[in-house]
Amino acid sequence: MKKIITDLNLKDKKVLMRVDFNVPMKEGKITDENRIVAALPTIKYALENGAKIIAFSHLGKVKTEEDKANKNLKAVAVRLSELLNKEVKFVPATRGTELEEAVANLKSGEILMFENTRFEDLDGKKESKNDADLGKYWASLGDIFINDAFGTAHRAHASNVGIAQNIGEGNSAVGFLVEKELKFLGDALDNPKRPLVAILGGAKVSDKIGVIENLLVKADKILIGGAMMFTFLKAQGKNIGTSLVEEDKLELAKSLLEKSNGKIVLPIDTVVSEEFRNDSDYSTVSIDTIPNNKMGLDIGVQSVKLFNDYISSAKTVVWNGPMGVFEMPNFAKGTIGVCESIAKLKGALTVIGGGDSAAAAISLGYADKFSHISTGGGASLEFLEGKILPGIEAISNK
Ligand code: 3PG
Repeated sequence: MKKIITDLNLKDKKVLMRVDFNVPMKEGKITDENRIVAALPTIKYALENGAKIIAFSHLGKVKTEEDKANKNLKAVAVRLSELLNKEVKFVPATRGTELEEAVANLKSGEILMFENTRFEDLDGKKESKNDADLGKYWASLGDIFINDAFGTAHRAHASNVGIAQNIGEGNSAVGFLVEKELKFLGDALDNPKRPLVAILGGAKVSDKIGVIENLLVKADKILIGGAMMFTFLKAQGKNIGTSLVEEDKLELAKSLLEKSNGKIVLPIDTVVSEEFRNDSDYSTVSIDTIPNNKMGLDIGVQSVKLFNDYISSAKTVVWNGPMGVFEMPNFAKGTIGVCESIAKLKGALTVIGGGDSAAAAISLGYADKFSHISTGGGASLEFLEGKILPGIEAISNK
């Protein structure tokens, strides 16, 4: 068991807090602040308990000097300050005198935020390669390390693993968000009430191989939609028209179907169109009659019904990946159908494993219909694959 924030005395301590504020931005504006909101309980708890918080996050990938201009965390610090209704000092540096003085001047119950940890990647990928000196340096700025960045937990970087390795045994803990993520994802996968129905979608089988293999062991049914369904359908010998397919994964899809022993359920109809455009003509056809010149962009209404039959008796549902091109209203009905089926469930544990399906459920208005929507894309995927998350593994044990 990992320590959680309530296991440590934070009073008057310099608390290094890794959060995942890697939020989508457009023209300098945050377009989805979910991850900032999700970190608030941990930040508020630490402030109320007299901590001096030094918060930090990565934002995107930083490969060029130009990236630095677009990927600074100033706007995020401003938004955090608004949400906390409290000053958040922003230090536009990842090391050096300005940062060290700001830390030294922090009072109990105050918070500062420093610049994008990946600015350190410009000089030899120090953050992303967990440079030993960088982890040591950041750890030297604080007394305690709290990791609440679930979305980054699958990375072994200096700002999570490096600090945890250098902060001293017993001085690190996870925050409330990580605790919640591990509880919901862990309950769904390792201790599920059955039947456990998994729903997988998205474009590529190759992204989900590990997840399918792990779920073949743990789930009772795996419902597959999204463009990845066409690789499975083609592996079954069906004509898929111009639908997306991974030719090099056909053999794998075939062997997963064989191994699945009926656990994998594929759609029986699909919404097809000649072009990848919302305003192009579309129709619903059986998966046995997909025209040569058309591509499938969503699961059809019969598939929604079929999937609903399985979902309606589930006691646990894990969902990762949309059923179609939900960003285009004409191809969003499959994803909406799955949201509806899950929303109707009473007393079941329903978890969305981050990424596009989380974005879909939120943008389609179903956010409050799930037990939990993960803030991690890659992290929840790796959790669903059954992998150990290094960012969490590095934290002190109770
Ligand atoms: C995410 O958005 O999945 C996390 O913030 C991790 O970002 P990364 O894939 O750039 O490491």
